Amino acid sequence: MHTLHVVGARPNFMKAAPVLRALASYPSVRQTLVHTGQHYDAAMSDVFFQQLGMPAPDCNLGVGSGTHAQQTATIMQAFEPVACECRPDLVLVYGDVNSTLAAALVCAKLGVRVGHVEAGLRSGDRSMPEEINRVLTDQISDLLFTPSEDGDENLLREGIARSKIYRVGNVMIDSLLALLPRAEDCFRADVTPPYALVTLHRPSNVDDLPWLRDLLTTLSELSTQLTVLFPVHPRTRERLQELGLARNEAENGPRFLAPLPYLEFLALQRRATVVITDSGGIQEETTLLGVPCLTVRENTERPITVTMGTNQLVGRDLEKLRSAAKEILSKGPSSQTPATPRPRRIPLWDGNAAARIAQIIVRDGA
Ligand code: UD1
Repeated sequence: MHTLHVVGARPNFMKAAPVLRALASYPSVRQTLVHTGQHYDAAMSDVFFQQLGMPAPDCNLGVGSGTHAQQTATIMQAFEPVACECRPDLVLVYGDVNSTLAAALVCAKLGVRVGHVEAGLRSGDRSMPEEINRVLTDQISDLLFTPSEDGDENLLREGIARSKIYRVGNVMIDSLLALLPRAEDCFRADVTPPYALVTLHRPSNVDDLPWLRDLLTTLSELSTQLTVLFPVHPRTRERLQELGLARNEAENGPRFLAPLPYLEFLALQRRATVVITDSGGIQEETTLLGVPCLTVRENTERPITVTMGTNQLVGRDLEKLRSAAKEILSKGPSSQTPATPRPRRIPLWDGNAAARIAQIIVRDGA
C-alpha cells in the first residue's frame, strides 16, 4: 500500500512526523513525503524536519508565498503531476493550511482517496482562511481523523457520513509528549523565569496596523512586570517593520526573537508564566502542559482547550488581556522559580493518536 503525505507549513510538520513514524512500522506500507514549499525558510521548515526526525521530502514543490489564490493554485498545478505519477492508494493531508486544501482538491478530482488528519475543527468564523480550508477539505476527504468529540459533532452536522469519521486523538500532542524530555536540554541560557511568551501571526491581528500597535503597547506595559519574549513570525516581522517597532531597543518592551525551533519553543512554553497567542496549536500545547494561555481571538476552533484546558479567549479587548494577565501573574511565581505546570488530560491526547491512524489505514487497506 502506498501512502503519500503532503506537508507545507510549520504547523503541519509536528502533525505529520508521528504518522510517518507509525506507518513506517508496517512493512506493507510504502510512503512518499511531498513538501509543497509553502514555508521555505530554514527556521520555518528545515529545523523542524531535523528535530522531529522526519525523512527528507521525496519532492519539494517549491511554491513559496503569494496571495491565497496564487498559493493554492500553484500548489494544485505543481502537485497534480506528482499525484498522477505516484498513483498513491491514499494521500494524507494535515491541519488547515492552504497546502492542505490544495492537495485534497487535486486528489478528489483525480479519484485518489484522501485522509484528513485533524478533521472536524470549526471556529465558525468564515473570515479565517483556515476555516474555509477546514470545511472544504473535510467535505472532500474519505477518511476524517478527528482529535476530539466536538470534531465528530461538527462533521455530522455538516452531513459527513459517520462511517468516514475516526476519533483518534491529537497527533500534535504525540509529538509534544515524545519530544518533551529532549526539550528540557534546549532551554535558553539567556532566559530566566518568570516570563510571558508571545506569538502573533494571524492576519486579523498583524495586518491591522493600528490594532497591532495597540497590542504592542499592552505587551510593553506587561514587560514592566515580567520579561516578555516574542518570537516573531516572518509575516509579523514585516508588519512590525512597517510600524518601526521591530527592534529590541526600547528599555521596556517585548524582547523580539527570531522564529524558534520546535524544541526551544517547547522548552520556553513549559516554563512560561503565561502564553499570549493567536495560534491554534499553542492553545493545545499549553493545555497539555498546564500553562495559562490567553488567546487574542474572538473564537477558537479548539473549544476543548477552554472548557477542559488552560485557555481563555480575550478577543480584541485589550482591557480583558490586561486584567486576565494580571490575574495570572497574581497567582504565578513571584520569584525566579519556574511555574509549576498542572498538565490537563483530555481523552485520547495521550501520545498514541498516530498509532491509531496507522492501524485504521492498514486495517482498511486504504
Ligand atoms: C500559514 C497558515 C496558518 C498557519 C501559519 C503558521 C494558511 C492559510 N495559513 O500562515 O494557518 O498558522 O502558516 O506559520 O495556509 N514567509 C517567510 N518565510 C516562510 C514562509 C512565509 O518569510 O518560510 C512570509 C512571507 O512573507 C509570506 C508570509 O510569511 O507572504 C505568510 O506566509 P503564508 O504561508 O502565506 O502564511 P502564514 O501567515 O505563514
